[in-house]
Amino acid sequence: MKITVIGAGNVGATCADVIARKEFVNEVVLLDIKEGMAEGKTLDLWQTAPVDNYDTRLTGVTNDYAATADSEIVIITSGLPRKPGMSRDDLISTNAKIVKEVTGKSVKYSPNAIFIVVSNPLDVMTYTAKLASGKDAKTVFGMAGILDTARFRAFIATALNCSPKDIQTLILGGHGDTMVPLIRYTTVSGIPITQLLDKDTLDAIVARTRAGGGELVKLMGTSAWYAPGAAAAQMAEAIIKDQNRIFPVCVELNGEYNVHNTYLGVPVKLGKGGIKEIIEIDLNEEERKMFDNSKDAVRGVMDVLDEMKFF
Ligand code: LAC
Repeated sequence: MKITVIGAGNVGATCADVIARKEFVNEVVLLDIKEGMAEGKTLDLWQTAPVDNYDTRLTGVTNDYAATADSEIVIITSGLPRKPGMSRDDLISTNAKIVKEVTGKSVKYSPNAIFIVVSNPLDVMTYTAKLASGKDAKTVFGMAGILDTARFRAFIATALNCSPKDIQTLILGGHGDTMVPLIRYTTVSGIPITQLLDKDTLDAIVARTRAGGGELVKLMGTSAWYAPGAAAAQMAEAIIKDQNRIFPVCVELNGEYNVHNTYLGVPVKLGKGGIKEIIEIDLNEEERKMFDNSKDAVRGVMDVLDEMKFF
């Protein structure tokens, strides 16, 4: 059983690392366009296997898509990351070209693979991969919700000085500043978060979560990789092990939430074959307004892509 990760940058290499250590497939193939980069990173990773006691094979290739043949899952991380001052949407024209090309090449060798997109702007790059692959939307989706909720959970854990394991929450909408963290669906071991943190603290955590990616870009001069790589690996694990995990995932909505032909983050059941179910939850008036606002923002960037006539 094989998973391919396209792009051996920080996110791709981290994702390959996490998958390899968890030993839920026999092989991880890492592919990059830069000569020697994927070979070097996988060789370095393979040399951690004797130390950390795992045996998932790691293969690095330069643009050799034949080596990715018959992958169960293809994870697309290719594209430029953000620099300080850029929004994810600023990356659209460069990254759409790259995502279209790598998806087209990957699907030729792994027509039955499930595609997980991580490249930014996430929602629209997932749409790009769907168009480029010609595949059913249940098998082409994006990673954002696990990362965004992880940030929300981490900030709450810090505020309460408690384990992040015990925090459950949900974030809907696009992977950008309009995302919709749902306080009403946030609990700590079943205790509503509003009983543990006051409104001002919660509002500040919500604002910090929305800008969570940008905070890291500012600090590091490039975008994050540990949490994004780990989050994509967690989706791959849910699929390979048929775990039926319930995660927020960027999926194509066709009538659900009263949204049509738009990729957006909502809770789904994830297991063998990809998206098994899109779960529709109740939203109050304020949450619905924020969700619609996020949908409009994503739709606007999808329209920009459509106007580029890449497809
Ligand atoms: C982030 C990038 C990966 O949110 O979108 O860190």
